[in-house]
Amino acid sequence: MASKATIEDRDTITPVYKDDDILAAAARLAGEDMCSIADLTSGEVRATLKLGHDVKRNPREYRHALDAKQMVLMFEKASLRTRLAFETGINTMGGNAIFVDQTSSPLGEREAIADIARNVERWVDVIVLRTYAHDTITEMAANSRVPVINALSDFEHPCQALADFMTLEEHFGSAAGLNFTYVGDGNNVCHSLMLTGAQLGANVTVATPRGYSPDIEIVTKAREIGEANGCELRLLQDPQAAVEGADAVYTDVCVSMGFEHESTKRAPIFRPFQVNDALMQKAAQRAVFMHCLPARRNAEVTDAVLDGPQSIVFDQAENRMHAQKALLLLLLGGLANVPSFQ
Ligand code: CP
Ligand code: NVA
Repeated sequence: MASKATIEDRDTITPVYKDDDILAAAARLAGEDMCSIADLTSGEVRATLKLGHDVKRNPREYRHALDAKQMVLMFEKASLRTRLAFETGINTMGGNAIFVDQTSSPLGEREAIADIARNVERWVDVIVLRTYAHDTITEMAANSRVPVINALSDFEHPCQALADFMTLEEHFGSAAGLNFTYVGDGNNVCHSLMLTGAQLGANVTVATPRGYSPDIEIVTKAREIGEANGCELRLLQDPQAAVEGADAVYTDVCVSMGFEHESTKRAPIFRPFQVNDALMQKAAQRAVFMHCLPARRNAEVTDAVLDGPQSIVFDQAENRMHAQKALLLLLLGGLANVPSFQ
């Protein structure tokens, strides 16, 4: 699809903040969608995180970056972090968020998705969607002239992965060369983490029960990206082997939203994949524990690990806001209003 950024949009981004990655990302991403984290190049992911760190350090600098910009959030599923991180994020940059609860009426049921897009784009500057079907997001993007952001679908959770790797950069200085292990369901969160790990040069190991491995299309894409960035992706079924020497151990619920009817079947299958003290002992001494939250305490992770000294889960949650602010700045051309970019 042709770029949504107009020539005028691109011209407003003045290349004075001397960071080539951020400037290149700002120029290309203005007006674009983020349905998948792979919609961003490796350089653009690095740039988004670099901007995220600056937004976190100097929030005042960005106070008016999105003055009067309107964001709509249409969510088919529950949310605490994603919703509040987007709302606080845009509010603290001068914009406004409107939340539309779609939990009892999925998008496309009352009105065609394309028609929703053609209405909403007349009023708002960005559309943020949380859906069951990933196609709902890509269809909205295909029919909207304003950027569409994936705030979680059954297939991907790109905003989560941005915040998670921002958190790893904070903790370790860089994600390149880190040994990152994901244990659990090969789900939406796992998919975006695999892609982002590859984009940032992290060696990613994924351990899932048989039958719950990540999607092959994502595996192939992550390996392709990783090859260019000198890192590897391993898929295992043994959690003990997977965490051996890991710098970060990540898990998520084994029953994602929309899969509740499989709870009874999944519980015993995922029991050996629980992250507990014994499993963390196998990781590197400096290892951190990560979880996107919400967690099912004492199911996929024990209280001792979740609340223990290695856990950085609330840093991840905080960074949802900073990383999403950076993403909004790039997609909405907001750097044009930031003094240090003049
Ligand atoms: N991690 C995450 O996306 O949290 P919410 O479901 O609360 O938004
Ligand atoms: N995999 C989980 C993530 C929630 C943030 C879900 O989709 O429910």
